Amino acid sequence: MHENDELIVTIEKFSNLGTGIAKVDGQVVFVENACPKDEVKIKITKVNKNYATAKVTEVITPSQYRTEPFCPMQKVCGACQMQFIDYDYQLKLKKQIVEDAMKTIGHIDTSVNDPIASPQIKNYRHKIQYPVSQKKEGRIVAGYFKPQSHEIVNIKYCPIQPEICDDIIEFIRENAPKFEITGFYEKKHTGDLRHIVIRSSADNGKCLVTLVVNATKTFERLNNFAKAIFENFEKVTGVCINFNSKKTNVILGSKTECICGQNFVEEKILDKTFKIGADTFFQVNPKSAENIFRYVKDEISKLDSPTVLDAYAGIATIGIVVSDVCEKVVSVEENKASIEKAKEVLLENGINNVELYAQDTTKYLKSIKRKFDITILDPPRKGCTTEALDETLSHTKQKIIYVSCNPATLARDLKYLVEKGCTVESIQPFDMFCHTYHIENVAIISF
Ligand SMILES: C[S@@+](CC[C@H](N)C(=O)[O-])C[C@H]1O[C@@H](n2cnc3c(N)ncnc32)[C@H](O)[C@@H]1O
Repeated sequence: MHENDELIVTIEKFSNLGTGIAKVDGQVVFVENACPKDEVKIKITKVNKNYATAKVTEVITPSQYRTEPFCPMQKVCGACQMQFIDYDYQLKLKKQIVEDAMKTIGHIDTSVNDPIASPQIKNYRHKIQYPVSQKKEGRIVAGYFKPQSHEIVNIKYCPIQPEICDDIIEFIRENAPKFEITGFYEKKHTGDLRHIVIRSSADNGKCLVTLVVNATKTFERLNNFAKAIFENFEKVTGVCINFNSKKTNVILGSKTECICGQNFVEEKILDKTFKIGADTFFQVNPKSAENIFRYVKDEISKLDSPTVLDAYAGIATIGIVVSDVCEKVVSVEENKASIEKAKEVLLENGINNVELYAQDTTKYLKSIKRKFDITILDPPRKGCTTEALDETLSHTKQKIIYVSCNPATLARDLKYLVEKGCTVESIQPFDMFCHTYHIENVAIISF
């Protein structure tokens, strides 16, 4: 097999990175935009030692699971790799991804439950982060990067986010030049506007807009531009500037200033209200997150008023949501801004049985003697360190509830816990990121 070879193949499986898998002479070929049971003509784009990659040049016999994507940009944008696949079948494929990870990485034979669908499969994404640049003729572009590149697809319409986000971004594209705000040239590290970040509330539709700029302090033109955005949209309740002049792919810098209105939007999860700022972690699909939190709360309610450690807490969303069925909750989060937001949430919701610590989870656990009936782990995609898992084991009496956004690191961490004598009682997937290969899981682990 060589680069540019054209072949006809049948897609056998779906990979954990959202591509179809075919086999040619026993070698694995990852095929973009292909669905199991498709018969397709492909062009080989790269040949590596153990596998090759390819793209579809013609669908000869479509799989019965193919459907027309509702977004005209689906193929070029790359953000919704699975949108051309029927939603119910997407869920089946995601279940398979989790099962494969448990088998091949985790060596665990616990069965995986059917995924719980997202309550909305359009307009579900409530956090938008568009990179911004500028064309030679001066036109501002904003959208997602094309897959494996830093070329921006100028997205004017994105049906997976609330409609108002398209309008705000279009306003920014059209009006930035009037305020002499330039788009960022990544190669030369020049220009003003690097990213547009919008957090919109699924509860009240209000939006917080953050302009990430290549500067260390604000200036008059920028303040005036922020005011224009604020004035133009009734639903925009705040405009912030985040300063990021570093040569980095990290979107937000460490300093944010609120120029107009409030520096947060309010979101409601179950019966609690949260304040979400520009730099605080909050789930992108609040309605699906609500399903996860309800599931975790039900699991905790099986014990009578337990003590709970909520580790990797963000703004303590889980800790706060479950607090009314617990004797005590301790939420630990390393991001200080998130803990500050959590303090406000506790006050406003009148909650007094949640303790907050702005600290690394392992360091916090090493500093205490107390044990908890239940520990909730909700780490970032990289999962937990073995040190964090060891500390969790020695500070937990009955069970661990592990919330994970990455099946591979979940499987690795479950393997470690099983080797230490734990039992994986259940694995429940939740679809938070419809039309992408991502899948969230909640594993219940007992001792
Ligand atoms: C997936 S988010 C979960 C947030 C929260 N549980 C929620 O549902 O909104 C992971 C969080 O872990 C925090 N984090 C990352 N490493 C950490 C560490 N070593 N100790 C404590 N928190 C950490 C991140 O800042 C982030 O807020």
